Amino acid sequence: MVEPILEIQGVRKTYSARRSLFGRSAAVDALKGVSLAVTPGESFGLVGESGSGKTTLTRSILRLEAPTAGRILFKGEDMARLGPKALRTLRARIQIVFQDPYASLNPRMTVEEIVSEPMLVHRDILRLDRAGRRDRAAELLALVGLSTQHLARNPHEFSGGQRQRIGIARALAAGPELLLLDEPTSALDVSVQAQVLNLLIDLQDRLGLTYLFISHDLAVVRYLCDRVALIHSGVLVEEGPTREIFDAPQSDYARMLLGAAPKVRVPPATPSG
Ligand SMILES: Nc1ncnc2c1ncn2[C@@H]1O[C@H](COP(=O)(O)OP(=O)(O)OP(=O)(O)O)[C@@H](O)[C@H]1O
Ligand SMILES: [Mg+2]
Repeated sequence: MVEPILEIQGVRKTYSARRSLFGRSAAVDALKGVSLAVTPGESFGLVGESGSGKTTLTRSILRLEAPTAGRILFKGEDMARLGPKALRTLRARIQIVFQDPYASLNPRMTVEEIVSEPMLVHRDILRLDRAGRRDRAAELLALVGLSTQHLARNPHEFSGGQRQRIGIARALAAGPELLLLDEPTSALDVSVQAQVLNLLIDLQDRLGLTYLFISHDLAVVRYLCDRVALIHSGVLVEEGPTREIFDAPQSDYARMLLGAAPKVRVPPATPSG
């Protein structure tokens, strides 16, 4: 059996009760013992309704949150046990593409600065000088279907789809193995969504990437993912090959999500967007 690239073992996350202007908020059990394993090279879909715990899980994988209990292993290594240097190295291997390409790109930075930032953060691993970073940024733009001419521009000069391409180029800059894609196309026009999805499929083939793809759009998940897990109120309720989940959903929750799925058909690839 192939060793998983990512293993989530019994992860719990409780946000503690807090006092606010409006009184005391109750503690929230955002994850209640989630376990799953992602195999190298696959596209694993995590689907659930709003508030089910998807982003909490991504934040835990990136160690932006410390799980209340359970373990997260990357290539067999428990992330909680790594020292600061090893954790930094590992962070280069796991990158995220955010939902909203309008909010996630700093408007005051040029595309070159945005795409080069991870190379600076991880310069001890990548060891690129200024010229090297520039060449690599140009290479990355070509990879996502943009051009060298775009390097000196600012995010506001681009369409939503182009911005998400810049976000993807940034996520690839440090040479990751695993990409966390948190609703990467849900803020885009339907016409552009398919182009960005096709780009992701193409990049996965070319670069041998592993995807953890988070979405509540089942049409998108069906198009992109090999396996799917359904999460409901912090609990995984169903998991399996995408085709099986769609053809023979076992739980009411799965049937509810499938019933609620919009009938979107993803058209074939067309260049740029
Ligand atoms: N920092 C926080 N403090 C307290 N509660 C939180 C915090 N972040 C998330 N929660 C709560 O944890 C639960 C899971 O939230 P999470 O953001 O992981 O859901 P989600 O599945 O990503 O939802 P969406 O599809 O809307 O993005 C929700 O009840 C949410 O209100
Ligand atoms: Mg979320």
